[in-house]
Amino acid sequence: MSRPEDFIRAQTRIGRPGLVPELRLHLATELAPLWRATQRELDDLDLPPPYWAFSWPGGQALTRLVLDQPHWVAGKKVLDFAAGSGLSGIAAALRRARRVVAAEIDPYAAAAIALNADLNGVRVEVDSHDLVGRRDLGFDVVLAGDVCYEKPMAERVFAWFQELAADGVTVLMGDPGRAYLPGRHLVETARYQVRTSTDLEDRDMRETVVWRIDNKA
Ligand SMILES: C[S@@+](CC[C@H](N)C(=O)[O-])C[C@H]1O[C@@H](n2cnc3c(N)ncnc32)[C@H](O)[C@@H]1O
Repeated sequence: MSRPEDFIRAQTRIGRPGLVPELRLHLATELAPLWRATQRELDDLDLPPPYWAFSWPGGQALTRLVLDQPHWVAGKKVLDFAAGSGLSGIAAALRRARRVVAAEIDPYAAAAIALNADLNGVRVEVDSHDLVGRRDLGFDVVLAGDVCYEKPMAERVFAWFQELAADGVTVLMGDPGRAYLPGRHLVETARYQVRTSTDLEDRDMRETVVWRIDNKA
């Protein structure tokens, strides 16, 4: 089996996400070949699909907000939770966050984040632990792009986000109307039309909202 870094370089091209062309990322150009390659590569390993090879609409919207309104992150300690390719954390680093940590439990995503941070000339630390539930981390801001696509994860993560918001942490979620987005305790912060691939989504544009978790929840 090749090293994750070699696998990522071999199976992706450097591209620019549609809504955030300022960033360069290692991205899959087509879904099927990468998925097949990953499957072969990961045959005996219990690793998830390559979410890190796409910039999901929720992450793109969140990243657009960070790039356009740097006051959310400038001078702050920022966690990009479930970072995937790391795009939102990279944007925070570009907009002068004091410290950026990307949390990812998928080791291939962790490697992709390091490569992508390098491509954009910024420093992003990677934490591969499952941080959900931790209230002692000391971040000012948590960014989370597209985390409501599975029910158990969405419920677990949202309960944690509410606790963090109650502790005074600013929690921003980018979401394109996923099934398990909770219907309450959310304040709309920005709204974008994000072009997506029909390989991944059931349509080629998704209206995507950046929500802030209400700290009075
Ligand atoms: C749909 S992708 C979104 C990636 C990125 N935020 C974006 O918008 O492009 C969801 C990511 O969540 C990660 N993930 C799932 N559970 C996690 C956990 N407990 N801690 C950190 N990452 C997690 C997965 O590995 C996957 O890369």
